[in-house]
This record gives sequence, C-alpha cells and structure tokens, in this order.
Amino acid sequence: MADWKSSLFWYCLPLHSGVVEVGMDKILVLYSSRDGQTRKIVDAMLAETEGCEVVMQDLHSLPKCNLSKFKKVLIGASIRYGNFHPSLFSFIHAHHEQLEVANAAFFCVNLTARKPEKQTPQTNAYMKKFLRLSPWKPKTLGVFAGALQYSRYNWWQTRIIQLIMKITGGSTDTSKDLEFTDWEKVRGFARDFWSKR
Ligand SMILES: Cc1cc2nc3c(=O)[nH]c(=O)nc-3n(C[C@H](O)[C@H](O)[C@H](O)COP(=O)(O)O)c2cc1C
Repeated sequence: MADWKSSLFWYCLPLHSGVVEVGMDKILVLYSSRDGQTRKIVDAMLAETEGCEVVMQDLHSLPKCNLSKFKKVLIGASIRYGNFHPSLFSFIHAHHEQLEVANAAFFCVNLTARKPEKQTPQTNAYMKKFLRLSPWKPKTLGVFAGALQYSRYNWWQTRIIQLIMKITGGSTDTSKDLEFTDWEKVRGFARDFWSKR
C-alpha cells in the first residue's frame, strides 16, 4: 500500500470502530443533515480554516469521541418538522461534560431563519428550543437559513412544505429550488470561531 493510503487507513480505522482517537490540534466537525444543506454550510466553514486537520463525522452514525483531543469542536444540525434529529441529543447527552470544557460551537439550520427577525440565536424558535432541551449551553451559537429543495422532496413532504410556505408567506412553486443561506454570514461566523482562543 502506498504511504498516504496506509496513513489514511490507520487514520480512518478508529472511525469504523465507532471511537475517534486522534492527536492534538485537530478540529472536530459533527453535523446532522437530511438534504445536504447543513453539510454544505459545514464545507463553507471549513474552507475558512488554514493548516488545520479536520475530522468530520455524521451525527446520524452515532459517533463516540474523545473531545479533549480536539482544539475546536463544531456541531451543526438542521430542523425537520420542528425537531432536530435525535442523534444530536444522543451525542450531547453522552458528551456534555466534555462539551462544557471544550472550545465548542453549535449552529442550527432551518427555513424559519430566512426571515430577518428570526435569524439570531435570541429570536430563532429552534435555537431557543435547543437551549431549552440541551444540557450543554454553547457559548458560541449560530443560526442560518437553509434551502427549499422541492426537487428532493417526496409527495407528502412537498404538500406539507407547500402548506407551511403558504402559511408563512414563502414560495409554493415546486418547479424552483431556493437557497436562503447567507454565505457571507456563514463565512463570518466561521472566521470568528476559528480565530477565537
Ligand atoms: C420534511 C421537511 C420538514 C421541515 N420542517 C421544518 C420546520 O419545521 N421548520 C423550519 O424552519 N424548517 C423546516 N424545514 C426546512 C429545513 O430545515 C431546511 O430545508 C434545511 O435547509 C434542511 O437542511 P439539511 O439539508 O441539512 O437537512 C423542513 C424541511 C423538510 C424537507
């Protein structure tokens, strides 16, 4: 096996066993994403890092991590039918003591945040819900508007999202996907967090 391939093999091995063990000065990024928008936001945030090693884990795979091994921990999760994916809280409950002392941030992604008056941690209903339910109260919080991706929804999801859009004054035109994410805000959040000591 070529050198880089064998390093990659040993690097990834602990991930397959469900336990992440890596050296210091690494960044851990955990995300919960159904249609890929949160993952896309994570990628944009990571593009703002320089010279960092990144370990990325999908929360839906129920990872177990030793957070003390990481310089920074970033967690991002989207909303579906008013809720976060249960794996978010499973992870937080299993790791909240480590999260309290880690240099860790949390952001959430939803369509409610497309409205200017609902896109701060203080005004977004889902961030408020997160803070109510989570034993970990992150010092760094972000709220980002997601995407309306009719092309990806099944029949039921399309009808439900259309209904919600009708009630909240959004688009019901299923022929067009719309992205509401403010990429400058995403990059600004990332730059602040990565540079924070
Ligand atoms: C079935 C479904 C239910 C959703 N429910 C909500 C909701 O209750 N509130 C909200 O603000 N956004 C809701 N959204 C919008 C998503 O949060 C938004 O599309 C986000 O970009 C999804 O991110 P993801 O692709 O990373 O999962 C819903 C989207 C879908 C497809």
